[in-house]
Amino acid sequence: MEQYKLNDGKMIPQLGLGVYLIEDANELKDSISNALKDGYRHFDTAAIYHNEELVGEALADSDVKREDLFITSKVWNNNTTYDETIAAFHESLKKLKTDYLDLYLIHWPSEGYQEKWRALESLYNDGLVKSIGVSNFEKPQMDKLLTTAKIKPAVDQVETNPYFQQKELHEYLTNLDIAHEAWGPLGQGKGAVLEDPTLLKIAQAHHKSVAQVILRWNIQRDVIVIPKSIHANRIAENIDIFDFELSNDEMLAIANIDKNQRGSENPNDNDWLNESLNMK
Ligand SMILES: NC(=O)c1ccc[n+]([C@@H]2O[C@H](COP(=O)([O-])OP(=O)(O)OC[C@H]3O[C@@H](n4cnc5c(N)ncnc54)[C@H](OP(=O)(O)O)[C@@H]3O)[C@@H](O)[C@H]2O)c1
Repeated sequence: MEQYKLNDGKMIPQLGLGVYLIEDANELKDSISNALKDGYRHFDTAAIYHNEELVGEALADSDVKREDLFITSKVWNNNTTYDETIAAFHESLKKLKTDYLDLYLIHWPSEGYQEKWRALESLYNDGLVKSIGVSNFEKPQMDKLLTTAKIKPAVDQVETNPYFQQKELHEYLTNLDIAHEAWGPLGQGKGAVLEDPTLLKIAQAHHKSVAQVILRWNIQRDVIVIPKSIHANRIAENIDIFDFELSNDEMLAIANIDKNQRGSENPNDNDWLNESLNMK
């Protein structure tokens, strides 16, 4: 497994398992146990996924040592103050049955994010979380955060797939030495990206699947990926990407299929951000 060095010196496995929308207990436990068997050590959850307790149980039941796991969670938007953020963190910690997190993220740049960041800094300084970062932050929100932040975010987790490559944001984050982490790397299974003809051709040339090509492309452009699946064969397929390499021409061909087409919520949509304050 490739490891990526964050700006705070910590290492993160460059590929992990996302668990968004896996709420069924058996499905989640099977997914995590299959993933561990296949070599996954990095798991991405969030308070709003309502499955931290199940993730905690599945990881506690395994024989993999805590120090060999990398666990990420995120503070949801309904927590807008310093104190609420600290309380939400401790709630996640309890549910995940651990005494520290590897990475804790502000889920969206919604109300109070500068205060929330102050809380994450304090959790980091207390050693309760090894790395801190943000999610769904674009340049304007990151620029604003950096005016008050004492610690630079280690990670920005944003929607990224071959039809929404985030090229400008990627360059901006790279210049700041903030890691780009891709959520929805496979287009969340709802777009046509898995049937893209350019990707299909490249996949055939390497005897790999389109999903594997997409994940490999991210690895080669220094992006961290967290594909989700509940199927044992796909979980195995998604990690089987470290035995081949895309050529420069193939990387360029993939760069050219970008449509700059967002598939999900827009972090610049203030109406949605305000509505999200009431979601739990
Ligand atoms: N920070 C945020 O705001 C945010 C937002 C969304 C997601 N995330 C995180 O990012 C993770 C990944 O994103 P996502 O779950 O939304 O989408 P995704 O990983 O892009 O796509 C998951 C979909 O692709 C399917 N799939 C998985 N592997 C496949 C393969 N090899 N071939 C064909 N289809 C495959 C899955 O189906 P099956 O499960 O049926 O196999 C599922 O429908 C999430 O789980 C979550 O941890 C973060």
